Amino acid sequence: MEGETAGALIVGVPRESAPGEQRVAMTPDTVKRLTATGVVVRVEHDAGLASGHNDDAYVASGATIVPDPGPVYEAQVVIKVQKPDTTEAALLTPGTTLIALLQPMTNTELMREFAGRDITSFSMDAIPRTTRAQSMDVLSSQATVAGYKAVLMAAATLPRFFPMLTTAAGSIVPAKVLIVGAGVAGLQAIATARRLGAVVEAYDTRPVVKEQVESLGAKFVDIPVDTSDAQTAGGYAKELSAETLRKQQEVLADHAAKSDVVITTAAIPGRPAPRLISRETVERMRPGSVIVDLAAETGGNVELTQAGENVEHNGVTIMGQLNLPSTMPVHASQMYAKNIQNLLDLLIKDGKFDPDYEDEIVKGTVITRQGEIVHEMTRQRMAEAAEPSRQ
Ligand code: NAI
Repeated sequence: MEGETAGALIVGVPRESAPGEQRVAMTPDTVKRLTATGVVVRVEHDAGLASGHNDDAYVASGATIVPDPGPVYEAQVVIKVQKPDTTEAALLTPGTTLIALLQPMTNTELMREFAGRDITSFSMDAIPRTTRAQSMDVLSSQATVAGYKAVLMAAATLPRFFPMLTTAAGSIVPAKVLIVGAGVAGLQAIATARRLGAVVEAYDTRPVVKEQVESLGAKFVDIPVDTSDAQTAGGYAKELSAETLRKQQEVLADHAAKSDVVITTAAIPGRPAPRLISRETVERMRPGSVIVDLAAETGGNVELTQAGENVEHNGVTIMGQLNLPSTMPVHASQMYAKNIQNLLDLLIKDGKFDPDYEDEIVKGTVITRQGEIVHEMTRQRMAEAAEPSRQ
């Protein structure tokens, strides 16, 4: 395009089109880092508007604004938040590299299409969760936003105060909050609920979490079940036996019944969310209580959750809103874009897109390449799906 240096690497940043998606994959700050090294960045008109960045800010960072998606998708490297829809995917040209949240294990058809059309794809949700890759870990950065926002939504819906108050009109007891799943989102939820003055308890199957929960001023719910097999060698949660899950549900039911707010965040990578709060448990909760189910996207931790909806049952509100990070697009984009920048630092050398496909981070994140699906876990999932008897 006019004004672009011939031979320079071209990176494209489209405007997100998924309903409700307000984030942008690159902020002007991160664009500036790239253009300073001679990379050409094409940004689609108004791509950053919903996250607080107008076209002028991108131009000031050295980007070219293009009115239509076409030239953005023709770039050598296209950087997005959400996976492309059918129209967007069709705009990608063979030989292009796409970096986005692709959830390859549940979008196997799209991955097949990419492989067939010689599109190299990197999935940000597949970044290995190692210390070295921490600065690129979008699951952590976006879960931080979700955990924070979940508490604010619960506080705004709860017909009671969170903090303890002593006033001339009498004393107010603090709200009781139960957080189920104390990973990145859960820990942020604990910290946020504590800042608002609630009394917080939390539970997770990974025993190592107890100390982190307590250091944030919450009480750890001890459930006397054998969770020695609850985590993988890599430190991630595994599915538990039906008997262990039943015992967990029983104890959690007693704690939920006494809570004003329950925030569930329990997830098992690549698997449906464990069902932890039954209809009967909701029926034991006080009217006016609020549940926010952050696992709604993968089936929900709560039996009554409906993805994307708020449900009321016996006076208890169960919130299943999806994509909470997009509701705080400024900081969610800032963090996502920073994660992207750190990945690009690894993939671009001397202004050329030149990934070392033997690097552990690159290997873990690349899904399709040279006409093939190369991501091991995605291949495994596809093989499992082709052989249902093995499930
Ligand atoms: P996640 O979103 O996959 O799961 C959330 C939480 O649910 C986890 O803590 C998990 O143990 C818990 N859980 C699963 N089944 C449960 C059940 N039946 N009952 C109660 N809780 C259940 O996990 P997230 O938050 O993405 O990461 C988990 C942990 O991994 C982090 O807290 C951290 O320690 C570690 N991590 C390490 C990183 C690194 O070293 N770079 C990066 C990110 C995470």
